[in-house]
Amino acid sequence: MKKIYLDYAATTPTDSRVVKAMLPFFTNSFGNPSSIHSFGREGKKAIEEARDKVANLIGAKSEEIIFTSGGTEADNFALKGVASANEKKGNHIITTAIEHHAVIETCKFLEKRGFEIIYLSVDRDGLVSPEDVKKAITDKTILISVMHANNEIGTIEPIKEIAKVIQEENDRRDSSLRSESPSPERNEGRQTISNKQSLLLRSKRLYFHTDAVQTAGHLPLNVDELNVDLLSISSHKLYGPQGVGALYIRKGTRIISFIHGGEQERRRRASTENVPGIVGFGRACGIAKEEMGEEAKRLISLRNRLIKGILERIEEVRFNGHPTQRLPNNVNVSIEFVEGESLLLNLDLAGIAASTGSACSSSTLEPSHVLLAIGLSPEIAHGSLRFTLGRGTTREDINYVLKILPKIVTRLRSMSPLYRKKK
Ligand SMILES: Cc1ncc(COP(=O)(O)O)c(C=O)c1O
Repeated sequence: MKKIYLDYAATTPTDSRVVKAMLPFFTNSFGNPSSIHSFGREGKKAIEEARDKVANLIGAKSEEIIFTSGGTEADNFALKGVASANEKKGNHIITTAIEHHAVIETCKFLEKRGFEIIYLSVDRDGLVSPEDVKKAITDKTILISVMHANNEIGTIEPIKEIAKVIQEENDRRDSSLRSESPSPERNEGRQTISNKQSLLLRSKRLYFHTDAVQTAGHLPLNVDELNVDLLSISSHKLYGPQGVGALYIRKGTRIISFIHGGEQERRRRASTENVPGIVGFGRACGIAKEEMGEEAKRLISLRNRLIKGILERIEEVRFNGHPTQRLPNNVNVSIEFVEGESLLLNLDLAGIAASTGSACSSSTLEPSHVLLAIGLSPEIAHGSLRFTLGRGTTREDINYVLKILPKIVTRLRSMSPLYRKKK
């Protein structure tokens, strides 16, 4: 039986060009990058080349990239690191109700340690309003974390507009600090520290983090254009290996590390580096940078064909996420009077791999927090399906899904007493 994988948001296969780049680092070039001999130097050089490629993908400087074990660690590092480093300035953090568990659970952890967290609601399409962000900011706000695109419903958030609100708040804080600053004359005779330095030292700046795990390598990304201070990436969502990722940290961001030990990653993340993983991640970023433009166009066309086909062939279906401001590869629908789990099992029997939500929530019977946040009832949320397309997806695959899915839905609904009663 032909197998069709439509769960690329959960993970992507490692590109064969990436595997090829990684292989030498398991065998011949196996040195510990911290060793000063030639074996070690080879590993170190490979890591730095990979760092350049990751930085290049998002318009960052290489020294602003810290390798991690994946997207989850990058999110944890950003939130816990900034919260701990800035807790004297304030204890208020703003995020959204639709973040990945890596952010939500980290926020819950911080809440137990005395931080106040605001979980902003979203509209029916899953959009966060910059105006709501503005209203939620207080003098105690130190960090705002809003994901770039949602992994379940594919909605792309207005990061630039939110960054503008944050910039205005930072400008306001800087100017009030300046007006409180002693004039240069009054500083005369004391330790010479420039006004700029003094402002930096006492800066009440609030930081902006975005989880770009679902967009990096799929959409053009530039940290300066987005105007973010921290950005999380994961390798296995962009055809690199699992278990490696990165956190972009803008120079000057106050953050403390939470993995202590050796001096790796500029003392920001101890532990011997995952050299093959990092090399593969770098190669995957290089390939994505070159190919994402064409690939996104191809996927948008397949995605739209799948959405249109499902809505035409199956009645009582709700389309989830923003109609246009969405990931090129994401289709999320709620099919009434059927259980998402039954749909998944039946699709799997027909060789089609999809998901009911994020990979993590698929193993629980709780309805997805994202679907509830966009206003779905728990019953409708339970009948939701996510298809995420990728490099291996063809037009034939989409046609096959459109042939099989309506049959499965008809069969399952024929067994549903609720559906029969309604008819
Ligand atoms: C938006 C988002 N953030 C974070 C993660 C976690 O990334 P990782 O699996 O690399 O830990 C995922 C994975 O599904 C994700 O989709």
